[in-house]
Amino acid sequence: MAIAPDRTARAAPVQLADPATYRVGVPHAEFARRRREAPVSWVAEQPRVRPSSAGPIVDSGSGYWAVTTHAAVVAASREPGTFSSGRRGAFLNDPRTKADLEFVRQLLINMDAPEHTAVRRVVSAVFTPRAVGRLRDQVTDHARTVIRGCLEKDRFDVVTDLAAEVPLLVLADLLGIPRADRHLLYGWSNRLVGFDDPEYGGGDVEAYRQAFAEAFQYALRVAEERRRAPRDDLVTRLATAEVAGRRLSDREFCQFWLLLVVAGNETTRHLISGSVQALVEHPGERDRLHAAGQDALPTAVEELVRWVTPIMQFRRTATGDTELAGQPIAEGDKVVLYYASANRDGHAIPGADRLDLARDPNPHLSFGIGPHFCLGAHLARLELSAVLTELLPHLPAVELDGPQVRLESNFVNGIKSMPVRVRA
Ligand code: HEM
Repeated sequence: MAIAPDRTARAAPVQLADPATYRVGVPHAEFARRRREAPVSWVAEQPRVRPSSAGPIVDSGSGYWAVTTHAAVVAASREPGTFSSGRRGAFLNDPRTKADLEFVRQLLINMDAPEHTAVRRVVSAVFTPRAVGRLRDQVTDHARTVIRGCLEKDRFDVVTDLAAEVPLLVLADLLGIPRADRHLLYGWSNRLVGFDDPEYGGGDVEAYRQAFAEAFQYALRVAEERRRAPRDDLVTRLATAEVAGRRLSDREFCQFWLLLVVAGNETTRHLISGSVQALVEHPGERDRLHAAGQDALPTAVEELVRWVTPIMQFRRTATGDTELAGQPIAEGDKVVLYYASANRDGHAIPGADRLDLARDPNPHLSFGIGPHFCLGAHLARLELSAVLTELLPHLPAVELDGPQVRLESNFVNGIKSMPVRVRA
């Protein structure tokens, strides 16, 4: 059942599925309207033409159920047997062929139990909060070096000079690649996540596959090296870990390694740049945080993670005829969990449209909820916290210096460029 179009509105209907919609920002008013009218509502997908080496491909898209309230996103996320990540993957675009589906299903994020449980057990035995905590000094060093470099200039770009650099340096350490190779991570990740943006993938399926293949070859070399000459690092433990008699195969290692490249890079980049943007636009909150000192940081980080919501949605597929928040859903229907909307739902988060860096409790869903809950949440928090510690004292002197350019994506809430000036 589709929501009736709003005939009183003069503006053209907002196309939630269209990456171009997000060029001007997250359509919060449209999400609020949908939350008011029905927690689960229909979104039509317009046909889109993608380039490919075999000629243009038309993606018609089936349309989907947009889940926009906090309660309904939580309910669907906690029922992975009914709302599956594996059936058609966790991404909005449908895999085009059976082979494509098999391919994406090898990523943890696109698996269901029992495979998901087994692989997640191995990787989470390695990727623990403690293991991430051991990276604290390195993360702090990277944040300090990058921010000092930025502040030495009177103008810099918050995205390319700062927000992209810190996660790349951290990931290079985490994934066992030389720092000088970190631009490779940047390129793969842009081509995979920025797939829809004309500047990056432009929707080209072949470019996507190519990025996948290159990253795999690289990862395989890292795994072989570490098995031959183990080091005391996380990537060695990933390549050699055995949990309940099970070790990651080469393919599983590469898949997880690549998932970290993508999941740990884009998301944190957008979290950092979105947080700087929020603080520049809310000088009262910025000053309050600065005055409150280091102890106030964890609560503020949580609020910035909510406010920015770097990943706007993940997708599920109904495994049978069912119902969600009163809306009947048919087997095979696409169901999209809008964290960007759930995080602004005033029923779950009072005053959700206001940035409140002292907000506590903060039941945001930016890292998802349920069996696929983000494995990198601690690392993302650690990185933002390190950046703010270094940057906060200097932020009052930082002002926007030209237009910001947003990423054309219906998936990540991203900024590509944010020039700023540092007042003397
Ligand atoms: C602000 C930064 C981040 C955000 C907003 C974020 C968000 C998310 C979300 C919403 C999910 C759930 C997906 C689903 O339910 O289908 C997820 C899963 C995941 N994230 Fe993150 N993430 C962030 C940073 C990271 C980092 C830094 C890493 C690792 C270096 C990471 C690794 C993962 C992995 C491996 C999964 C898959 C878990 C599974 O399927 O069991 N993420 N993330």
